[in-house]
Amino acid sequence: MKVLVIGGGGREHAIVWKLSQSRLVDKIYCCPGNAGIATLAECIDVSQNDFSLLLDFVKHEWIDLTIVGPEEPLSKGIVDLFEREGRKIMGPNRAAVQLESSKVFSKDIMRLHGIPTAEYKVFTSYLHAEEYLKFKGVPIVIKADGLAAGKGVFVASDMDEAIHALKLIMKDRVFGEAGDRVIIEQCLTGEEASYMVFTDGKTIVPMVSSQDHKRIFDGDAGPNTGGMGAYSPAPVITEELEKEILERIMKPTLMALRADGIDYKGILYAGIMIDKGRPYVLEFNCRLGDPETQPVLARLDSDFMEIAMAIADEKLSTVRIEWKQEPAVCVVISSGGYPGQYSKGSRIEGIEEADGMEGVHVFHAGTSFEDGRIITSGGRVLGVTAEGSDIALAKKRAYEAVGKIHFDGMHYRKDIADRALKREK
Ligand code: AMP
Ligand code: GLY
Repeated sequence: MKVLVIGGGGREHAIVWKLSQSRLVDKIYCCPGNAGIATLAECIDVSQNDFSLLLDFVKHEWIDLTIVGPEEPLSKGIVDLFEREGRKIMGPNRAAVQLESSKVFSKDIMRLHGIPTAEYKVFTSYLHAEEYLKFKGVPIVIKADGLAAGKGVFVASDMDEAIHALKLIMKDRVFGEAGDRVIIEQCLTGEEASYMVFTDGKTIVPMVSSQDHKRIFDGDAGPNTGGMGAYSPAPVITEELEKEILERIMKPTLMALRADGIDYKGILYAGIMIDKGRPYVLEFNCRLGDPETQPVLARLDSDFMEIAMAIADEKLSTVRIEWKQEPAVCVVISSGGYPGQYSKGSRIEGIEEADGMEGVHVFHAGTSFEDGRIITSGGRVLGVTAEGSDIALAKKRAYEAVGKIHFDGMHYRKDIADRALKREK
């Protein structure tokens, strides 16, 4: 079979890598891909938001299945269009993606169906929002309603910071229409984890748990990023908690959508805060997490193509999905300055040596080719992922591999997976 993957980050490199191991796959295309993906797939130079061109390509090349990585094409309705045209595609449709593309939509569903989440209020008027902020006091969380590439959430510990965030969203309109509505919500405390499931709308199959590291610097300091590293499993998610997340969060959310006539097919991701042993939803995403996918797919012991086809065909119950016991750790290497301004075009050395080490997979994100050499072309550049018999070994291997890699201005956190190690002690 032929498969097309949409996206070009570390998540998509991990997806393409898993697909390349499938006995069902003869040829992989990726749009736009990156320098790492190009070793496994044919990268096509089409915008991931040019749906009519993508559809022409899929028809012309007789592609059997399209798998969508990022949220943007999903939220713009790529699945709706492909399905209307009779093309198989794995991902939720536009109505279902509102769970991620509108925080107001997702909070309202949670409130209506008693799904545990932080208390909140929605505002369209700056003055009312400011008044409410002052009434509630700090710490407090301010969120733009729409998609903002992970930058629309502000956790404010003092009032000046909170008002500044509100002004950025509502007055300066830095996120445009995504800030037409603002959520002000209670600040939760505890430990975060990521929980993802496969679903075809009828059957739900959980993935192994994972934990992201959102802040740029060690000790969770500095601004939020797309994610600076991840590990799987997250020991904070006990078996009992996993059951609770499945029964009290994932199943009721999918049932709530169905009650509104929305069938959800694809991957559902819940960002969870565990406070005093209870799970609360911070956000839903309608896709695989990045960088969580890198360690999670490294642990998948089944055929990803078979799973993706079964989701698209609504036959997920017929597939057996197995996971390796061994944990995996992913350390992201970013360009200096990220998540702010950063430069591109630095030559990267040492990838091959790192990738050849035992248990290590170097997933590319912002990389491209220049004169046959690999150069940086994005904020998050590589996701160095390693497996090991325990988290300590996986971490050691990942950092040894990171040590082989070099480019000007490279930055990475040194404390990925430390929280899991502390918990194990
Ligand atoms: P979100 O995109 O909604 O997951 O928010 C990004 C990050 O902001 C989360 O991973 C949390 O670290 C933090 N966050 C979001 N909502 C809350 C909340 N209610 N309380 C505390 N932290 C939050
Ligand atoms: N790692 C968080 C996300 O993918 O949104």
